[in-house]
Amino acid sequence: MKKVFFTLLVLSVGCGKKIEDDQVIAPKPTDKQPFSVPAHFPKPEYALDKNKITQAGFELGRTLFYDGILSRDGTIACGECHRQEYAFTHHQHDVSHGIDNQLGERNAPAIQNMAWKKEFFWDGGVHDLDLVPVAAIESPIEMDEKLGNVLEKLKKTEKYPALFEKAYGSKEITSAKFLKALSQFMLALTSSNAKYDKYIRNEAGGTLTADETAGLNIFQQKCGTCHGGELFTDQTYRNNGLKLDVTRQVVVNGKLEIKRFDDKGRYRITQIDSDLYKFKVPSLRNIAVTRPYMHDGRFWTLEEVLNHYSENMIDNGYVDNALKINGKAGLKLTDDEKRKIIVFLNTLTDRNLLLDPKFSEQR
Ligand code: HEC
Ligand code: HEC
Repeated sequence: MKKVFFTLLVLSVGCGKKIEDDQVIAPKPTDKQPFSVPAHFPKPEYALDKNKITQAGFELGRTLFYDGILSRDGTIACGECHRQEYAFTHHQHDVSHGIDNQLGERNAPAIQNMAWKKEFFWDGGVHDLDLVPVAAIESPIEMDEKLGNVLEKLKKTEKYPALFEKAYGSKEITSAKFLKALSQFMLALTSSNAKYDKYIRNEAGGTLTADETAGLNIFQQKCGTCHGGELFTDQTYRNNGLKLDVTRQVVVNGKLEIKRFDDKGRYRITQIDSDLYKFKVPSLRNIAVTRPYMHDGRFWTLEEVLNHYSENMIDNGYVDNALKINGKAGLKLTDDEKRKIIVFLNTLTDRNLLLDPKFSEQR
């Protein structure tokens, strides 16, 4: 990340390597485009006509995404908290650690299928994908830098004016171009090639086992109200009965510390009482690799998540009706149902997104 010259070198080597990669993964014709809409997906929300995704724009966005130059001291890149092999989440971190090893208060969400998202963050605090990086860069506990200063630093490098020229036809570096390039990279992170997708599209490799099919059916009944559709979220804000205002141990610099969590969720944005402790329904695509779970990363396994929905929910006064039986919070799942749901959730893992070298840092 700090190695500007090194990266320059490999960038040129990287070109040759890409041809090789293309041959290895034998892409379908659509893979040549940085972005395309999968046939079984809804219409994108992002205004794609205002930010046409090109190969050069995507590559610039990718270089920026993996470059620590975006942070105050050069150490924290976007890719630090959003790691490809874990669907661009912060693996093994309940809440994110940013600059100077400071602790955030939320779990880093996956970056996938961003073109379909209406609002961003656990509470919907950001409306436009183009503005998300500003929040990360200027957050004192994430990257602690100023957008203007990032642009100044980029102008002084050898490689960025050339990369901006390739993407936009001129060496000029502006905040709009910078933000739109980051969006181009993130928009290209489509997850639509899991076993489940092959099943839906009736493709080779898409035959579900008896347990997976049973799991899918239970999932649709019990979880589908909120985690429904091809995106596995209805993009609403809901309360799923987590114990709130909790104190728990977290690891800071390798040491255990006690931290209080009292995140009021959607209420932070709207200040409406009925929004207290509601959080964005997250997509469950790639859920097998994005632990830990929930806005504060409190659960480390899917078994814990299923136990929560089955018998450990707290009626905090705001629990969603879809999670109640006869007015009582909790779905009362049998062990067999829990197991089958998890078996089904494993069919949502998309190795294309997690392993495709075109989404990795180019070394
Ligand atoms: C220190 C860790 C950290 C760094 C560095 C970081 N992020 Fe994040 N990111 C998070 C966390 C935590 C959230 C959730 C914030 C919230 O909900 O309040 C998030 C949320 C997001 C989201 C919204 C996802 C969604 O589904 O709502 C996107 C997109 C994103 N980050 C992109 C970026 C980009 C681009 C950068 C670099 C400019 C970046 N992040 C840097 C931790 C980080
Ligand atoms: C009433 C809507 C609703 C229903 C029904 C529901 N969920 Fe959720 N789910 C949510 C919300 C909201 C969150 C985020 C809560 C938070 O982080 O505070 C969530 C979070 C999750 C997470 C963690 C995701 C992550 O990225 O951290 C998993 C896994 C999950 N749900 C699985 C399920 C399963 C399996 C079912 C069915 C047994 C189910 N959910 C039913 C609303 C719902």
